[in-house]
Amino acid sequence: MEKTLRYALVGCGSFGGVHLDVLTKLEGTKIVALCDIHPESCERLKERFGLDVPCYTDYREMLAAEKDNIDIVDVVTSDKAHCPVTLAALEAGFHVMCEKPMSLFTEECTAMVKKAEEKGLLLMVGQVCRCAPGFVKAKELVGNGSIGELYFAESEYAHDYTNIKGVDNWRVDPDREPIIGGACHAIDLLRWIAGDPTDTTAYSNHKVLTDWPVDDTTVAIFRFPDQVIGKVFTSIGCKRNYTMRTVLYGTRGTIIVNNTDPVLDLYQLHPDGSSVLTKIPLEINNHNVMEEHRLLREAVLYGTPLVTTGTEGARTVAVCRAVVESAETGKPVEIVYPV
Ligand SMILES: NC(=O)c1ccc[n+]([C@@H]2O[C@H](COP(=O)([O-])OP(=O)(O)OC[C@H]3O[C@@H](n4cnc5c(N)ncnc54)[C@H](O)[C@@H]3O)[C@@H](O)[C@H]2O)c1
Repeated sequence: MEKTLRYALVGCGSFGGVHLDVLTKLEGTKIVALCDIHPESCERLKERFGLDVPCYTDYREMLAAEKDNIDIVDVVTSDKAHCPVTLAALEAGFHVMCEKPMSLFTEECTAMVKKAEEKGLLLMVGQVCRCAPGFVKAKELVGNGSIGELYFAESEYAHDYTNIKGVDNWRVDPDREPIIGGACHAIDLLRWIAGDPTDTTAYSNHKVLTDWPVDDTTVAIFRFPDQVIGKVFTSIGCKRNYTMRTVLYGTRGTIIVNNTDPVLDLYQLHPDGSSVLTKIPLEINNHNVMEEHRLLREAVLYGTPLVTTGTEGARTVAVCRAVVESAETGKPVEIVYPV
């Protein structure tokens, strides 16, 4: 019989509910404690999932009281609590799954990576696009040469935030630039497929969510290794359905994929010079949190390598911060990777 891994969840809001849904279904997993600064949020999830576990309003109190009961702390709080909760959980000796963005600040990301290394513990970051079936397929097709040599990669994060401000309006924060909070998904996806960009030039504007303290729209261009160029667009005020449409152009074909579409379009060069379209069916699973926790479980129990490590999360935040700097200064920015 496989070992049971004991989880404590910190952050019992909307996405905390998505995590609990998965964790209560994943075999060999047990929830041992819940924590949220709002006790009613804990109680709501406790009741929804029929759990008989203690609820805490202070994660430090939880970590001390449950010190012999926890294997993994799942951090699904608003972004600014990711770093303090993760550092405390690692310090207490537990592996951590931390939602994206790892932090809004590169210095905090570095501290989190260093703490995990110092303690010899696993730190996984919820860059869930690396588990979305369509994006997994796209990476596989690029890797096996199906579109020849990649030369241009674009992705986007278009998601109307008007009605998803978060508990206590945490998303409406001058530090929560959309390119970090939301488009970290698109940037992480392109990094995963095209490698680490060397520099970026970005522009942003503020015409839709005019009562929010950040620019709501940004476009950034990048230089990736091997002379691949790329672009990420983000809008958090857009009047349309949520999308992460991604297009990968190669010398012998093109991939068009979206984590909300049930098909991937693969165009390939035919000997007669035309482009032939194959439609590849996909499962839509843009929040494949089940796969994330399955991978974390394997890593904890069997030492398999993690794909979305703290280092990867930190490097993605570093790219996001460079985009913010470029949009603010109007100048190209060399990307400095902290870890
Ligand atoms: N991977 C994805 O695609 C995805 C999707 C949605 C949200 N997220 C991320 O998940 C996190 C939570 O988002 P959400 O939509 O659930 O927000 P939410 O506002 O619904 O929930 C956040 C919860 O965290 C709690 N919280 C804040 N500070 C805390 C602290 N110090 N200790 C304990 N609890 C604390 C709040 O009270 C709230 O209940 C965010 O970081 C967000 O970026 C990721």
